[in-house]
Amino acid sequence: MKVLIVGGGGREHAIAVAMKKSKRVDQIYCVPGNAGIAEVAECNPSIGVMEFDKIVSYAKEKAVDLVFVAPDDPLVGGLVDVLQEAGLRTFGPNKAAAILEGSKAFSKDLMKKYNIPTAAYETFDDPDKAIAYLETAEMPIVLKADGLALGKGVLICNTLEEAKAGVKEIMLDKHFGSAGNRMVIEEFMTGREVSVLSFVDGKTIRTMTSAQDHKRAKDGDQGLNTGGMGNFSPSPFYTKEVDDFCQKYIYQATVDAMASEGRPFKGVIFFGLMLTPKGPRVLEYNARFGDPEAQVVLCRMENDIMDVVDACIDGTLDRVELKFEDNAAVCVVLASDGYPVAYEKGFEITGLENFKGKEDYYCFHAGSKFDANGKVVTNGGRVLGITAKGATLKEARAKAYEATEWVHFDNKYMRHDIGKAIDEA
Ligand code: AMP
Ligand code: GLY
Repeated sequence: MKVLIVGGGGREHAIAVAMKKSKRVDQIYCVPGNAGIAEVAECNPSIGVMEFDKIVSYAKEKAVDLVFVAPDDPLVGGLVDVLQEAGLRTFGPNKAAAILEGSKAFSKDLMKKYNIPTAAYETFDDPDKAIAYLETAEMPIVLKADGLALGKGVLICNTLEEAKAGVKEIMLDKHFGSAGNRMVIEEFMTGREVSVLSFVDGKTIRTMTSAQDHKRAKDGDQGLNTGGMGNFSPSPFYTKEVDDFCQKYIYQATVDAMASEGRPFKGVIFFGLMLTPKGPRVLEYNARFGDPEAQVVLCRMENDIMDVVDACIDGTLDRVELKFEDNAAVCVVLASDGYPVAYEKGFEITGLENFKGKEDYYCFHAGSKFDANGKVVTNGGRVLGITAKGATLKEARAKAYEATEWVHFDNKYMRHDIGKAIDEA
């Protein structure tokens, strides 16, 4: 098989590495890809993920058998529909289904309608009404821009003043662009967060092993929200009891709800869960693999990824059982200092060869490229996802941090407490 992956971050690198392991895959292409993905795939850095026509032409030119669309923007924008209309076999939800991530108002209404446990909320498209509602609400409270906002459109407000300023930021100043035309105001929940990713074929759902992300930029969960500074899998807090509850009230219920709405979901659903004192609640849905969740989950998956992908497309997932290694993985993101606000890029990355031949160690590239001289340089806020597997979470964490010392670039920044929660488990 020849496969094309759409995307160019650490998630796509992890997907490419999983596909490389498949006996059924002969050639992998990736747009735009990056310098790390180029080790396992032929990349075309000149094609962006939102250039749908160019992606269709490239897929046809390379005569690929399958296109795997990984990032949220093209999924929500309908790339899967465009590829399918062009006769290309494609993995990922179509536009009608990707709205599960594309609109928080849609996903909240869906959960309410189908009794899927989540935080209480109201939706607003008028800032005055939002402010009037806040006057009577309990603090802290959570404001969410309706649309895609690079994982940054969520504000947790401790006081009424902060909340009013938040409404202005989202709906009037349009800090998150048109994502803020509508807004969800939601009850503040407390508890541990867990991510559960799943494969879905429209009817059947198969959940993968759990993971736990670290979204804030700085140690001790301080600083701004980012795309994710590191994570680990499995989460020791995701117990059998929690899984039973979620299987019963959340996972299949979500798949059935989407089918009932005439929006059957095929692809990956990422459940962002909060384990509250009252039980698990859905924080958010994503219509794709998480980044860096894919890095710690896929390296532990025993199935041939292409078998699972095919089953999702063909509606035969009920015949598939997912298997994961009985071990653990930790990913520490090496970022450019200043991320997620302002940072310099273009610095040479050295030491990448230290990962060659080292089993259980992975250097997933999130933001890298080749410069004019063919050197690998930094090209983003998140640069590398240093990932290691171990028999236990503690071992995996020690190995991942050890490997963060193998690579260097100017302005290298990381959190030092990824997986610290493991010690409390
Ligand atoms: P989301 O993009 O919806 O996952 O929100 C980003 C982050 O904001 C989550 O990972 C949580 O840490 C936090 N968050 C979102 N919704 C709530 C809520 N209702 N209560 C408390 N924290 C929340
Ligand atoms: N790491 C969180 C996400 O991919 O949305």
